[in-house]
Formats: sequence, C-alpha cells, structure tokens
Amino acid sequence: MSMIDDDNVSNTSGNEHFQNIMNARVSRRSFLTGGFAAAAAASLGGVETLLRAVPAAAQETEEAEDTETKSGGRNGRRPVLGFDSVSVSSADDVVVPKGYTAEVLIAWGDPISNGPTFKQDASNTADEQARQWGMHNDGLVYFPIIGSQRGLIVQNNEYTDDGLLFPDGVNNWSAEKTRKSLNAHGVSIIEITKRTGFPWDWRRRHGKWDVVRPSPFARRITGSTPIEIGGPAAGDPRLVTSEDPTGRRVLGTLNNCAMGFTPWGTYLACEENFNGYFRKNGLQTNLEKRYGITAAGSGYLWHTTDKRFRVDEEPNEPNRFGWVVEIDPFRPNSTPMKRTALGRIKHEGALVQEARNGKIVVYMGDDERNEYMYRYVSNLPWRQAQAQGINPLDDGILSVAKFHPDGVGEWLSLTPDNPRLAGWSLNDILINTRGAADAAGATMMDRPEWIDTFPKELTAIATLTNNSRRGTTPPSVNNPDGTTSAGSARPPADPANPRPNNNYGHIIRWYCRQDWTEPTFGWDIFALCGDPVNPAHGSTIFGDKYGSPDGIYVDRSGLIWIQTDVSTSTINAGAYVGFGNNQMLAAHPETRETRRFLVGPNQCEITGVMMTPDRRTMFVGIQHPGERPDDQPGDPLNPKQFSAWPDGPDGSRPRSALIVVTKDDGGPIGS
Ligand code: FEO
Ligand code: CA
Ligand code: CA
Repeated sequence: MSMIDDDNVSNTSGNEHFQNIMNARVSRRSFLTGGFAAAAAASLGGVETLLRAVPAAAQETEEAEDTETKSGGRNGRRPVLGFDSVSVSSADDVVVPKGYTAEVLIAWGDPISNGPTFKQDASNTADEQARQWGMHNDGLVYFPIIGSQRGLIVQNNEYTDDGLLFPDGVNNWSAEKTRKSLNAHGVSIIEITKRTGFPWDWRRRHGKWDVVRPSPFARRITGSTPIEIGGPAAGDPRLVTSEDPTGRRVLGTLNNCAMGFTPWGTYLACEENFNGYFRKNGLQTNLEKRYGITAAGSGYLWHTTDKRFRVDEEPNEPNRFGWVVEIDPFRPNSTPMKRTALGRIKHEGALVQEARNGKIVVYMGDDERNEYMYRYVSNLPWRQAQAQGINPLDDGILSVAKFHPDGVGEWLSLTPDNPRLAGWSLNDILINTRGAADAAGATMMDRPEWIDTFPKELTAIATLTNNSRRGTTPPSVNNPDGTTSAGSARPPADPANPRPNNNYGHIIRWYCRQDWTEPTFGWDIFALCGDPVNPAHGSTIFGDKYGSPDGIYVDRSGLIWIQTDVSTSTINAGAYVGFGNNQMLAAHPETRETRRFLVGPNQCEITGVMMTPDRRTMFVGIQHPGERPDDQPGDPLNPKQFSAWPDGPDGSRPRSALIVVTKDDGGPIGS
C-alpha cells in the first residue's frame, strides 16, 4: 500500500469537506498577511498559558509589556526585527548583535545547588554528577516564580559524549562509568534570580542572572531516577522486566530532546533516540526493527555493565523508553510519570496548546527520516479531567498527520476503531505507534523537529530538519505491517516535502478554522531553507541563509526564532560550505524577513530557547561544542581539538551550557 494514496481516506470521523478547509486556509492567509500584527497584539502566547498555572506572583508581565515602547517606540506585542544581523561565523564563541550580551549561566558539571564543583579534568564521580548540571543540554522551559525576576529553569540533558565525560574517555569502561554517563543524562532543574543588590546596580538593571544556591527546587532527574509509567499502557506485559514485574516503574529517562509544558505548570521531557543505548545481538523482532534496536547501538557501552541495556536478556526494557515524561518542577519530591497515551515514538518535543473548548492538544514530531507528525487531544476539557482525578495526558485520542497535496490535511485517528487498525488493541497502537501510523496511511515527513503555535491565529509551525532519503532510489515506503527498518524508507518528493535529497530542510505551517481539535487543517510551507542567493538550493528564505532548522519558538510578540542543527560532520563543509557554525535566527511572521541573531561556538548545535514573560531575557542552549566531526567520542588526550568554549584557556574541555542573552538597553530581545 502506498503512503501517498490520497483518495483513500481512513478517517471516518465525519471530517469537514476539504473545500471548506481550503476556503478557510485562503482567508487565514489573507488574515496573516493583512492583519497579523493586530491579531498578534491580542495573542495569548504559550508563556501566558503557563503564567495562568504558576504562582500568582508571576502576573507582573502585562505592565511590563505595556511599557515596552522605548525600543523602537512600538507596541510591545508587535513582532519587530529591530537588530542588525550578525554575519556567519566560525569563531569559537557566541556571537550576538551589536547592543546585546550573551553570558553563560550554567554549564555541564556545575553544581545545581550547593553541590560539588566541576573538576576540569572530568574526574567528578557518578554521585557528584547526579548533583551537577547534566551534559548536552537541549529543550528548556522558564517557569516564573516572580514573573521575569525569579523562576525555575528546567532543561533536558539529551546525551553524553563519553569521550569528554571522563579523564580517560571511554577507555577502561566500568560500572561507575555507566552510572556517571546515566547521571549526566536526563533533566536538570535550577532556580534562578536576577542579581540581587541595589536597584541602581547596573548588573541588576541590565538583567544579569544568578543560579540560586542552595535552592529547594534544584533537582536532577537522570537515567536512573525512578519514574512511574502512567496511562493506558501502564502494566502492559510488554513493559514488564525482571526488575519490574508490575510494568509500572522504570529507571530513568533518556535522550530527552525538545520539551513541552502544560497549562497546569508541569514540564514534559521527550525521549528521542532512546534506541541507541540498547544492544540486541539475536534476531530483531519487527518492533525492534521499526524502532532501530540493533547490535551496534549508537556506541554507548552501558550494556557491558548493566543488563538493562542487553535486550537479549531484558527484551522489554526498550519498550519502557520512547515516551513523553511529565515532571512537576514545583514539587521536587514528586515522581515523574511516563504518559503512554501520547504514544511511543522518537519524541522530539510535545507542544501543548489549550483549545478553545478547554481540551488540550499536544503536537509531537517523530524525528527520523520519513517519520510522522502526531496530535493528541484530551477527551475532556483539562480542568474537568483534573476535577475528576484524571490526568488530561492519560485520557485522549492520538492521531497522525496526513498532508494532502492540495494544501489540506487530516488527522488520522490511531484508535482500534480506525478500520485500517482492525485487530490492533489500544496498547498495540501506543507501544508500536510507528507501525500503527504506517497502517493508518500517514505522510512521511523530512524529520519532524520542534513545533510551536500562534495561539490566537490557530496556526502551528514546525521544523523539518533535512532528509537524505527523500526522492532517492529505489523508492520505498514504511510497510503498513510495521516491518520497515527505522529510517530506511525512500519516498518520492511530495508537496509537503517537496525536495528530493533535502539537505537544508524546511518549515511548515498548519491552520485550524475554529479550534485546534478539528479533524482537518490547511497547511503551507513557510520557508524552504538553504542559501537564497544560490539558485541551486531552491531556497525561499527572505533574508539570511540557514539550513537544518531544529528548535523553533514563537515569542509573545509573534516573532519566530529558529535554531539550527547542522550535523557536526557537515558544519561549514559539503553542502554547508559558507554557512559557518550553527546559529539562531529571527523571522517576521508577516514579511518572512529572516535575520541571523546568534552564532554558536565551533561544532555546537543551538537548541533550547525561551524568553522571560517580559521578553527582556532569552535563555538559549549551546549543545555539544567541540564535538568531533567523525561521530566518534571526544579524544580525552586532545579534548579541545575543535573547541575550548566556554572556559577557554582556563578549561580543559568544551562544555555544553545554558546562556542568557540580554539587550544592553534593557529592552525586549529582538526589538
Ligand atoms: Fe535531538 Fe531531533 O533533535
Ligand atoms: Ca532537536
Ligand atoms: Ca537535533
């Protein structure tokens, strides 16, 4: 069965006629181009959703927004590209526009509270690492405690470079090394505050931040932290292991890439490339094949000392990863929960949007070549669910996107009553979500990464980072029986993924008419990436060139922030010669003008971004500076071969870090 059979609609849920959607799409387009600024002025951004859920002291923001007139004299809610672009850069430093300052707030190994300090030779123990900022930080959320003055930062620690994690790298591997590597993964929570001191202290006026040490909120969740499994698949026999006969309690969360946050003030960590930690030497099952559980893994050595990662001995352990994990950062003793109703994929992120009808919608991408985009809708308005003692993430309907060539799309429900899923139980679908999406007839995408929304517009925007297997030969699809090996399909180009061998990636948008819960949507492409000056790239960017978009964030004014993840093997090389280091840009939603705002140090990826509600502080993640271009672990004998950021000559090795960007005149970022 082809994945591209557009006439054969499997969603029987009374979809709206496509022409209606097309009409809505056209009028929404004119709305976007004609009246966006006015609409954005009334926009309820994701941060505001968050503010409604967190302590009341957070509500200082409206006043701050109203006084945002000194930068450019514009209303603070209008998207303004007010900075001068920075050039492409290959400097081993963070570059920001004139009039802005970037400072490191915390880096891998720094204590999250009053814990052990980082030892530059990487000799901190596993136990010390469990009290320090994790390695390779990724998606992040700022949770206000006192508005834009004090709050919590929750940031994922996606993966580790075990060559840099120890004084002797991956040599002499031991159980202690496995434990330290696990403890450098997961999620880090810190409390931060604007610098104290007299109000006229320039450092305070200019929005400098400190980590609060000690803080009762500081917490590490690692690859070994006890986590409950919730939702429909909890207790399923496929989640039972020798250590956990209940199938309801797992140790740790792994490869947390992007993230989300809920209107009730919790954080969502998303497990992406979990497969790489496991080794399976025997014959792969179809489920293992579809999720990429292999004999080689991605190079980690955990399996040599921890049976959990030897799939031949613990066949169900991988089934306990690939979920979205809910964490309550304001309750440091709470147990995180894997929310199985959101499906099991290589979760990039989980963007939560409250619908007008009070339900929650969660948009999610499965980041692998030719995988899918998903939506979850709670069955009840979230407040009503909570009043009934139901977590809104445990009771809802998962569906997967099909993009039709005519600019309309539909959400194909992944439920046992979908005729294409006859014979599948709900847990079959939730544990083998990829296989279910294959059978449902979803559209294969060019590696779905982050998603954000323009809430008042009913518009979502998502990055598709690149795809080396689009339009290559021989053409093939993901088999509807779920037997395709992970990342192996080779689909032809289609209108939603229009470029064969898509080196540079693209950004797609979709629109609803009345509410986010509708079964259908209109869609268009915001930008085909690449160098717009080079016709061979086919780029539609208006402004500065970039490729491999990954992080995307719509700020409260409506500006779109785009972060890139050109792989370390390709930075400023091959198709990316002249693009410099990975970067972050801002794009205007109406004019689409795109300006480069920040360039990172050598061999890093820029990932993780959020502003304080007053938009005067931007938090940005700098991940894996100095990573080797050959995909091998860092060389402990020459750890600074590719980067010495951020410690420079004083340091012994590059470190992933969270940075704070402020405008020197104290104005909103980007204005
Ligand atoms: Fe971890 Fe899809 O980036
Ligand atoms: Ca990512
Ligand atoms: Ca990435």
